[in-house]
Formats: sequence, structure tokens, C-alpha cells
Amino acid sequence: MATLNLRNLVKRFGDVAVIHGISFDIDDGEFVVFVGPSGCGKSTLLRMICGLESITSGEVLIDGDVVNDVPSARRGLALVFQSYALYPHMTVYQNMAFGLENLGTPKAEITARVSEAARMLQLEAFLQRKPTALSGGQRQRVAIGRAIVREPKVFLFDEPLSNLDAELRVGMRGEIAGLHRRLKTTMIYVTHDQVEAMTMADKIVVLRAGRVEQVGAPLDLYNHPANQFVAGFIGSPRMNFLAGKAAIMGGSIGVDVPGVGVIMTHASADGVAPGAAMSVGIRPEHVLGGRAGWNTVTGEVASVEQLGGMSYIRLAGPDMTAQLPGQTRLGFGDTAEMNLPPDALHVFDAEGISLPRSWTGAAPAELRQTA
Ligand SMILES: Nc1ncnc2c1ncn2[C@@H]1O[C@H](COP(=O)(O)OP(=O)(O)O)[C@@H](O)[C@H]1O
Ligand SMILES: [Mg+2]
Repeated sequence: MATLNLRNLVKRFGDVAVIHGISFDIDDGEFVVFVGPSGCGKSTLLRMICGLESITSGEVLIDGDVVNDVPSARRGLALVFQSYALYPHMTVYQNMAFGLENLGTPKAEITARVSEAARMLQLEAFLQRKPTALSGGQRQRVAIGRAIVREPKVFLFDEPLSNLDAELRVGMRGEIAGLHRRLKTTMIYVTHDQVEAMTMADKIVVLRAGRVEQVGAPLDLYNHPANQFVAGFIGSPRMNFLAGKAAIMGGSIGVDVPGVGVIMTHASADGVAPGAAMSVGIRPEHVLGGRAGWNTVTGEVASVEQLGGMSYIRLAGPDMTAQLPGQTRLGFGDTAEMNLPPDALHVFDAEGISLPRSWTGAAPAELRQTA
């Protein structure tokens, strides 16, 4: 079990800085997901924690001790990545036992730990097989087993499921989450897939271009994104954004969107200049079908996807996707009306920062909690 603290971490490759001063803390037993687009520095950050990449400046602390100069093998961490790197000439058992044999662990202890890991990962029937006689999912489980037997203080996963097909990925996601519940070991999991982040994490760290955009629980990020990047990155399909200019309506902001009109919001007008550039955001699942007293958007239907239980309708002019419950009669080229309820709207200033609401209350999605 372990805590981790990152203090102002910087990484430069030659003249190029790729990590620009990252700080956050990871509690004992937490499942933390680093998520962000490809190339944003997730692997580099993980490798700095792990000791496979040197630290240009800043500190990594494990259980309160600075480990910058502690070699990777002595940090007590285990890294699992997408290319499983199993030894092809060894059996599953030997692959899992190899690291412990190198450490001089007694044979009985090795057998006990490998058996326990094999039981946890449902690999008991495959212990005498070679990796080539296993499926992709089984190989990934062996790679995880190899990490488990080392009883690390922290597990580090770098996109471990990206080589697997979609169905297997969902299954393995559940297995890794289950593993965390049983072992209660601190885990850091890197992915570019926001669905993986949402479904697995206690805490998500959203990264962009070597900087932290926001740290929070999955639903905090969904309900209260700190900025337009996080709002667009978390949630699927992506949040709709309509750009316009601020019109002050009492204590709240209206956003005057060209070709649409003024969208009334609950964002606070405090300190906002009339005419300032603003974007209003709404998630597809919060758009309502039909006309209401205000915030009705009329557009031409550019595409319809009927999934049976729900429908995706994309409007052109304004470009906007609605996820409506059930089935729809709308078709390509129809004129459709959509309503944007004010309590579901997010408002971002010219820098993309979320503006606070003029009243403090639950986010609309929280109000619609079921069960
Ligand atoms: N050894 C290296 N030398 C130079 N640049 C590197 C090296 N490793 C990674 N980078 C650069 O650092 C950035 C972050 O890479 P990486 O951490 O692999 O991103 P991610 O894992 O989020 O896709 C990228 O622009 C990448 O090209
Ligand atoms: Mg990577």
C-alpha cells in the first residue's frame, strides 16, 4: 500500500519540454486514471513515476519519501503495458515466476504466489501452456499476473487493453476493477479512452499537452468540467458548443449565438462585459426534443441514427447532436426543433474557462439521478 505525491514535475527531452510542472497527490488504495489525447505525456509521466525516465526537475514521493534517485527496480512498483512482453519459450507459470526467481524468492513462496495470482486471474488451466497458445486476453492476464506476484506497492498500467478487441476490452476492464477491489492496492491506469476513465477511476487526471487540466471523481468532471477542453473530452457523444457573445439578462448570462438567437443560461453575469465572447455547451443527452418557452433551436436534420432504445439526431446550422430517448420519426432533411434547458447549460469564457452559476445548486444531471 502506498501514497504518491508529484511535486512540480518537469520533463524535457533535449530542448523540448513535454511535462510542464505537474503536481497532484494519490491516496493509498486509490484507482487513478490518467486520461488525455495521444501525445499529451501520459506514458512519460508514468515512466517518470516508475523510474524508467529521468526527472528533469520536481519530485516524486512514494509513501512520503523522495524517490527521484531510487532505481526503478527498488521503487516497489509494477508496470503493465500493452505489448505484453511475455517470454515465448517459457510457460505461463515460468513467465509469472521468472521475476521472483531472479530476486531469489524461495521456491515454495513462488509456487504459492503464482498459484494465487493464477486463481485470481482464472489462469489455472493454462499454467503449462506457452504464450503462443493463448488468446490476447489471456496473454494480458499473464502480464498482469506477473505484476501481481511481485506484490507491488503500486500497479501502473499503460494502455494495457488497447491491443484487445472491443468486447474483450470491456471484460478486462471489469476484471482490473475487480482486482483493485480485492487487492486494494494503489493503481495508476493510463488511457486515451474517456469511457475507460469514467468506468474505472476513483479519480481522473485529465492531461493535455503536458499539463493537468482537471483532477476529480468521474462524475465531478462530467457535471462540473473546469474548462471547455474537459467538457469536450469527458462524455460521449461529445458536448455541443455554440459560440456567441454575452448579453446580460439580470444576474445571468444570455449567449447571443449568430443564426440561433439568445440562449438564456444560469451562468453568473458577475464581472462579465456585455458583448464578451462566450461559448455555451450542452451534452447531447440533455437536449430535449420539441419547442419550449425559450432556448428553442431550429435546424435541418443532417443525420439520424436509430439505436432502438434511443436516437441520435444531428442538426446542421447550428451544428448540434441530440440524444433523444426512444425512437424518432425525424429523417434526413426535416426541420427539427430542439430545446436547450438553461439548467443543463455550461458557459465558457473566451479562454475556455467554465463560468460559475448565478445560484449554487446541483448540476442538472445530478438532479436526474435515478435509483
Ligand atoms: N524519448 C523521447 N524523446 C523525445 N520525445 C519524446 C520521447 N518520448 C516521448 N516523447 C514526446 O513526448 C510527448 C509525450 O509522449 P507520451 O508520453 O508518449 O504521450 P502519451 O503516452 O500521452 O501518448 C510526445 O510529443 C512524444 O513525441
Ligand atoms: Mg502512451
